[in-house]
Amino acid sequence: MKELKPKLLMTPGPTIVPERILKALSMPIIHHRTPEFTEILRDAAGRLKPIFKTDNDAFILYSSGTGAMEAAIANTINPGDKVVSIVSGKFSERLRDIAIAYGANVESVEFNWGSEIDVEKIKEKITEDTKAVTIVQNETSTGVRNPVWKIGEITKETDTLLITDVISSIAGDNIQTDKWGVDLCIGGSQKCFALPPGLAFITVSEKAWNAIEKNENRKFYFDLMKYKKKFPQTPFTSSISLLYALEESLDMIEEEGLENRIKRHVDNAEFCRTEVKKLGLELFPEKEEIASVTLTAIKHEKSEEIRTKLKENYDILVAGGQSHVKGKIFRIGHMGFVGRSELEKTISALEEVLGDL
Ligand SMILES: Cc1ncc(COP(=O)(O)O)c(C=O)c1O
Repeated sequence: MKELKPKLLMTPGPTIVPERILKALSMPIIHHRTPEFTEILRDAAGRLKPIFKTDNDAFILYSSGTGAMEAAIANTINPGDKVVSIVSGKFSERLRDIAIAYGANVESVEFNWGSEIDVEKIKEKITEDTKAVTIVQNETSTGVRNPVWKIGEITKETDTLLITDVISSIAGDNIQTDKWGVDLCIGGSQKCFALPPGLAFITVSEKAWNAIEKNENRKFYFDLMKYKKKFPQTPFTSSISLLYALEESLDMIEEEGLENRIKRHVDNAEFCRTEVKKLGLELFPEKEEIASVTLTAIKHEKSEEIRTKLKENYDILVAGGQSHVKGKIFRIGHMGFVGRSELEKTISALEEVLGDL
């Protein structure tokens, strides 16, 4: 393999993977049908629960985050079931589109990208026959954080499931799966866990298990019943090396302390917003109160030029806008292992790039 020149990854995933995790990845492979492996899987799944703040079952899937999004829908939604999808960005569109792909009767409640969701408008659409509501807590495409608990207040005491994507915020933001009433909570590895891409996480409530037991949708690899029955083994071959890496990431999270880690993300996000505003830039979210704590989305008509210059002249990678905001915004990730020094370096390079423009 050709050697790659490292770049400072300031994207909202994948993000910087620390040395300790890279080292764990290179440990010898053990077999996945052994007591040693069982011990690792049981340990990792158990240690994910406090990060999701849940007593529900937690599973590790060997896919990128989208695999767990698909698992959530495929296991609970029967063709024709009504699903209310809250859509305000690229990833909430994806969750809705998966529901459509599995034959759901989808009611899409749409909001402008970067705006605050209107809970009253959503509430009107949730009826007794609504099987599930889908929401993305941290919309990575817009840098907006959505108030999942307000939707949980509507669905909690009903049969409606709350399916929530926390892929770009879990282990960085304060995700309260049980308190918010989230039935299927979906995470991913290459964001705040500072892991390589390739693992997805899903927690499953009792209410969700009831729906899963009655589910008739066709599925195979992501059949969650198989994962439940087989635990603490996995139905198929596990990504052993990524599990080693997950164990190391969990060690690092526990050493730092989850609450300290959340505070670090909140502080870094505030620092990033303050510094970009000092440079005269405008944030993409319509209000600062709804801004994400793991990434900052910034408006600029020359976003692509800014990104190119950061990459070519400073070896710093930031993300661009997606879909209709491509070329209009850029996004700085400050998740996982990214600290103040990486942010300072990025802001100072950004200042020089803006001066050049
Ligand atoms: C909020 C959100 N949901 C879903 C995904 C999709 O995850 P993956 O690319 O790991 O499949 C991403 C990835 O950027 C994301 O940020």
